[in-house]
Amino acid sequence: MGRLGRDVSEIGFGAWQIGADWGEVDEDEALATLHAAADAGVTFFDTADVYGDGRSERLVGRLRRERGGERILVATKMGRRAEQTVENYSPEHFRAWNDRSRENLGMDTLDLVQLHCPPTDLYFRPEVFADLDAMVAEGRIAAYGVSVERVEEALKAIEFPGVASVQIIFNPFRQRPARLFLDEAARRGVGVIVRVPLASGLLSGKYTRETTFAADDHRSYNRNGEAFDVGETFAGVPLEAGLDAVEELRPLVPQGASLAQLALRWILMHPGVSTVIPGARNPEQAAGNAAASDVPSLGDDAMARIAAVYEERIAPHVHQRW
Ligand SMILES: NC(=O)c1ccc[n+]([C@@H]2O[C@H](COP(=O)([O-])OP(=O)(O)OC[C@H]3O[C@@H](n4cnc5c(N)ncnc54)[C@H](OP(=O)(O)O)[C@@H]3O)[C@@H](O)[C@H]2O)c1
Repeated sequence: MGRLGRDVSEIGFGAWQIGADWGEVDEDEALATLHAAADAGVTFFDTADVYGDGRSERLVGRLRRERGGERILVATKMGRRAEQTVENYSPEHFRAWNDRSRENLGMDTLDLVQLHCPPTDLYFRPEVFADLDAMVAEGRIAAYGVSVERVEEALKAIEFPGVASVQIIFNPFRQRPARLFLDEAARRGVGVIVRVPLASGLLSGKYTRETTFAADDHRSYNRNGEAFDVGETFAGVPLEAGLDAVEELRPLVPQGASLAQLALRWILMHPGVSTVIPGARNPEQAAGNAAASDVPSLGDDAMARIAAVYEERIAPHVHQRW
């Protein structure tokens, strides 16, 4: 993980699903899912203070304790417990949010804290990054990073030498980071955490035009960006366009693999990526995602075809937006 100086599994785990916003996942199932990921070799777990208002952090904290002694790296996020103004990213709020996350996770020093998709203007406030340096010096956090919506925010963020990692949306339906950002991050030694790798499940190929989602699932209530950035739901791809494109990817799935694993393998084909954090709601999904590490590299023909499907069917919807 670049500047972080820690080794992590190339397939990590996204713990939003076991917090809230994806329909019901009960506590036993959530813990079994976390353990299935760890059993499969996952050592990087991404969470946030707002996922289920702390539920996700508490579950990840329990996993850490129950797997005592194993090298598990926990990345959490802060910044979304208040209205999204630059002023709210203050030293007082940072320390209050940090105290709460340390308690939820049961850790004195957090491994990695990411600013949770802050307003673009924040990247032009060096004093905020100086304060994060101070939090490292205080021993509250071992390192910090940012989670961004846009490629340009990522490029600005890594000008700050203390930024250890950038979390960004990157998948066969969101290819722009490959052209502009990944090489620059690698050159500067910044860790890259890839989120929404399955385009909220769209790239698993299991949905149809008839699929419905629970009312408390953001794939129902944020389809048009009603609650947060629309790019977080199906990676910003209109569902119908995504379903058509998925059918064109299906023939490329390697023997014995799944479409979800094809998507994860495509991401891992990019050397600038440090870890990919698919979300999972049950142990089978967690194990299946971790097994993408064993899927052979994709050939030039498959890579070219995925690029062409993106250009023809997806880029017009997303390329100039993020
Ligand atoms: N702003 C931010 O910083 C931010 C925003 C979004 C996400 N994240 C992080 O990124 C993580 C991953 O992104 P994401 O959860 O939004 O989307 P994702 O990983 O692209 O999609 C997750 C969904 O894909 C389906 N899925 C997962 N594994 C599968 C498998 N093996 N086979 C079939 N279907 C599978 C599940 O859908 P079903 O529920 O339909 O089964 C699951 O809920 C989150 O958990 C979170 O940690 C961060």
